[in-house]
Amino acid sequence: MTDDLFELDIPDMEPTEKIDKKFKKPIKIALIGDIHIGSPNWLKQFTYDTFEMIKNSKNMYWIGMGDYMEFATPHSVGSGWVEQILTPDEQKITTKYLFRKVKSKCLGLHHGNHDDRSKKPVGITETLHLADDLKVPWLDEVCTFNLQLPNKEYSLTTTHGVSASTLPHTKLRVVYDMAKTWNDDILAHAHMHTLQTKAADYYHRGIQKTRLLALSGSFMRYGGYAKKKLYPPETAGFPVLHLSDSNMHFTEHRYNFEKYSQDKE
Ligand SMILES: [Fe+2]
Ligand SMILES: [Fe+2]
Repeated sequence: MTDDLFELDIPDMEPTEKIDKKFKKPIKIALIGDIHIGSPNWLKQFTYDTFEMIKNSKNMYWIGMGDYMEFATPHSVGSGWVEQILTPDEQKITTKYLFRKVKSKCLGLHHGNHDDRSKKPVGITETLHLADDLKVPWLDEVCTFNLQLPNKEYSLTTTHGVSASTLPHTKLRVVYDMAKTWNDDILAHAHMHTLQTKAADYYHRGIQKTRLLALSGSFMRYGGYAKKKLYPPETAGFPVLHLSDSNMHFTEHRYNFEKYSQDKE
């Protein structure tokens, strides 16, 4: 019986750590992370508008940077379990509803520590199932993309990451630290809930080169734990990476306080 079981075709659950992709035209890649669907501080309308924008933008792709759901449980830190505005089931359904709209444009989904909250108690990795449902690559911790345009190739390494940094400059240091190990054209880190992009030069074999660094922002208003701990407020938003044969750069899509101030976010 046991032998039979091991002869069955078990689907591959290994995360994707390297992705090669070819494009015929210049592309844009939105780095979407730390949405925290269901948190009392979740910016709902901004989230919905962002996915609509991705859906309607030509040659735009996106990478899920993790922490899609708030997913507070009775065992997680703080009183988030009673404060969250959607149940974990509602959070999962909402995440899937939004991601499904743009699944053909998704280059992969990283797993965040909030999405992780069912792993320790019951061994279920939420993002693995989400990626399997949507038929997109599951990236888990770190993934390197080789992005080939007609006449130029770029390498991009992305991660949800881990860090307890709380100030804008110490948060930025996290992605500089990443640059000590990962020798790519573009590096992007989530988890810090700050939107920052930077062109940072370095030497490679005596030649000065430029690479891009990004912290991928959030879809959260200031409040909750960050406010209680007197951390500085951070503007929500997300970076978009623009790649062409001649140029790479980031644009920052910041949450617009004036546009959304009347909304019941
Ligand atoms: Fe987060
Ligand atoms: Fe996180």
